Amino acid sequence: MAVITNIQDLKRIYERRVPRMFYDYAESGSWTEQTFRDNTSDFHDIRLRQRVAVDMSGRSTATEMIGQKVTMPVGLSPVGLTGMQHADGEMKAAKAALDFGVPFTLSTMSINSIEDVAEYTRAPFWFQLYTMKDEDYVRRLIQRAKDAKCSALVITLDLQILGQRHKDLKNGLSAPPKLTPKTIANLATKWRWGIEMLGAKRRYFGNIVGHVHGISDTSQLGAWTAEQFDPTLDWGKIAKLMEQWGGKVILKGILDPEDAKMAVKLGADAIVVSNHGGRQLDGALSSIRMLPAILDAVGGQTEVFLDSGIRSGQDILKAMAMGANGTMIGRAFVYGLGAMGQQGVTTALEILRKEMDTTMALCGERNIAGLGRHNLLIPEDFSGRWQD
Ligand SMILES: Cc1cc2nc3c(=O)[nH]c(=O)nc-3n(C[C@H](O)[C@H](O)[C@H](O)COP(=O)(O)O)c2cc1C
Repeated sequence: MAVITNIQDLKRIYERRVPRMFYDYAESGSWTEQTFRDNTSDFHDIRLRQRVAVDMSGRSTATEMIGQKVTMPVGLSPVGLTGMQHADGEMKAAKAALDFGVPFTLSTMSINSIEDVAEYTRAPFWFQLYTMKDEDYVRRLIQRAKDAKCSALVITLDLQILGQRHKDLKNGLSAPPKLTPKTIANLATKWRWGIEMLGAKRRYFGNIVGHVHGISDTSQLGAWTAEQFDPTLDWGKIAKLMEQWGGKVILKGILDPEDAKMAVKLGADAIVVSNHGGRQLDGALSSIRMLPAILDAVGGQTEVFLDSGIRSGQDILKAMAMGANGTMIGRAFVYGLGAMGQQGVTTALEILRKEMDTTMALCGERNIAGLGRHNLLIPEDFSGRWQD
């Protein structure tokens, strides 16, 4: 096998091994994909200050996120249909992350259920909530996450309506894939994926099927989810959900300083500066470009994590040096999972940690607490000059 040295290597193997429909599902942004592209390219505009003759022994990437110890400031973002990227993908990715010492977030739209992941990992993970119109279902979902001892509720705020990704419509995305001549032709070239999938614990949405009144098989599922995202979600409803949960809450999908201030007012333990990996509002600025203004607005009153566009340890270091308290990754771990299952996620995390650690050393820093804007060269107009 080729020597794997970076996240792009994992992506190449991932593309070869996973059915086109699920590769396209992950590797897409909405509409023109401008925000999707900016998320990664904007990181490249920030440069690093090289420092020398600093004792670089005894370095550590360890820190804390919402009071939990982490071996590096990276959590796994919630990714729907992870169990279609690899058999039992949520169980495998969660185990890899928790064994590595970083948080895993299970999506509402996962294939493995909350209970599957809890049983397999036997360690607390974070649960991501999409608010649905069916309030009784949402109440029971929150209770299931409590029963599974999830250590934080991540409420996603930027998907009350689905951004359009052209390829998903053209591919007829579904879980499991519908057998059409096109999908059969593609699946025939992905025999390893198919054999592993035959042995998977689940091949449909494990948090939904059997838990929603009137949905007992997969055929009614597409229609149910498409019309279930709650368009009426507002700050009042978010406050009620936080109360219902009663534990640590992370509000995900904040991209504007005014919304960040509202999250502080509600008492969120953390926010995730995110544009959903460029999958929702095409034309929005990248997360890294919005980060400075949001940090200023929040003024240290809640923890600020960032996702969207992270593909290397250098990206993580840039976000942390800018002032974030943590970062999260979506596609970077999906590439590893699709390429090599649980081991692939571990490999992705190892790559990121090594890149981050080496960069930290060459910047003359020994730990996360020492990082700051003094490590970065940020273009003067990085946040953009926009008319009022
Ligand atoms: C294939 C895919 C599925 C996703 N599904 C969810 C989801 O179910 N819930 C959610 O809150 N975010 C979801 N996201 C957004 C991620 O949590 C995260 O914000 C995004 O992937 C970060 O960008 P990155 O992939 O560039 O790291 C998804 C992202 C991808 C790529």
